[in-house]
Amino acid sequence: MTQGIKDKVIVITGASSGLGEAAARALAAQGASVALGARRVDRIQSLAHELTRAGCKAIAVTTDVTDRTQVKKLVDSAVQAFGRIDVMINNAGLMPQSLLERLKIDEWDRTIDVNLKGVLYGIAAALPYMQRQKSGHFINVSSVAGHKVGPGTAVYAATKFGVRALSEGLRQEVKPYNIRTTVISPGAVATELPDSVTDPDAGARVRKFYAEQAISADSFARAVAFAICQPDDVDINEILFRPTRQEV
Ligand SMILES: NC(=O)c1ccc[n+]([C@@H]2O[C@H](COP(=O)([O-])OP(=O)(O)OC[C@H]3O[C@@H](n4cnc5c(N)ncnc54)[C@H](OP(=O)(O)O)[C@@H]3O)[C@@H](O)[C@H]2O)c1
Repeated sequence: MTQGIKDKVIVITGASSGLGEAAARALAAQGASVALGARRVDRIQSLAHELTRAGCKAIAVTTDVTDRTQVKKLVDSAVQAFGRIDVMINNAGLMPQSLLERLKIDEWDRTIDVNLKGVLYGIAAALPYMQRQKSGHFINVSSVAGHKVGPGTAVYAATKFGVRALSEGLRQEVKPYNIRTTVISPGAVATELPDSVTDPDAGARVRKFYAEQAISADSFARAVAFAICQPDDVDINEILFRPTRQEV
């Protein structure tokens, strides 16, 4: 796998924990230069220092993906530091869950802003570079909830269905520029994501489900590496994976 990853410049949003952090560690260890974005700057700075001390190339840039200028700064900083951008991983996200009748309207807004508009801002920041380079790769993180909806997951699922729609539209539009587009839809993976559920009923259900079923974040890092390391003429468009024991 290292072959197609070594020396690639990879920008990762939501790199301060969970899937983004696991992907950053795995890709940096395989020779990629990584630009880490998240709001918790202490976390991404300490990860960047750790990777740099281990001989990897990493920078950290404070990034709130709901602010398009910050996402642009993250991508611009990666290009300034490493000369180009090969992969944009739009990973930052949250998973509030509650029945619609609870009317958690502020949470709906926040979920759409981070999970959907954040991905669009990532595309806006990286696409012009990739068009000029005539190469690049978007990896957008959806979910099993981007394929299935259930009670309490309507808004989260809507954003994750939306990520798939955006990605498919992007895939069709960027053919002239030799840009690849991958959607990764994980099932339950052990991260801090259940902490974003504020509704007490849904929170208890989600935490129990994750405690019983979730698998390691390395599963995501391996899926990312698989998509990136393909030859340039191979575009892996969809990866959906779950814990073997996960029924939903
Ligand atoms: N774990 C799973 O079971 C699972 C399953 C399906 C899909 N996913 C998706 O995987 C992605 C990563 O989640 P995770 O499981 O790794 O959860 P996590 O451990 O909670 O990580 C979420 C990441 O998103 C970042 N983030 C949240 N709001 C942000 C904002 N406004 N601006 C920038 N970064 C923001 C967080 O960083 P800061 O708080 O430091 O900003 C953190 O790094 C999400 O899109 C999630 O929907 C996860």
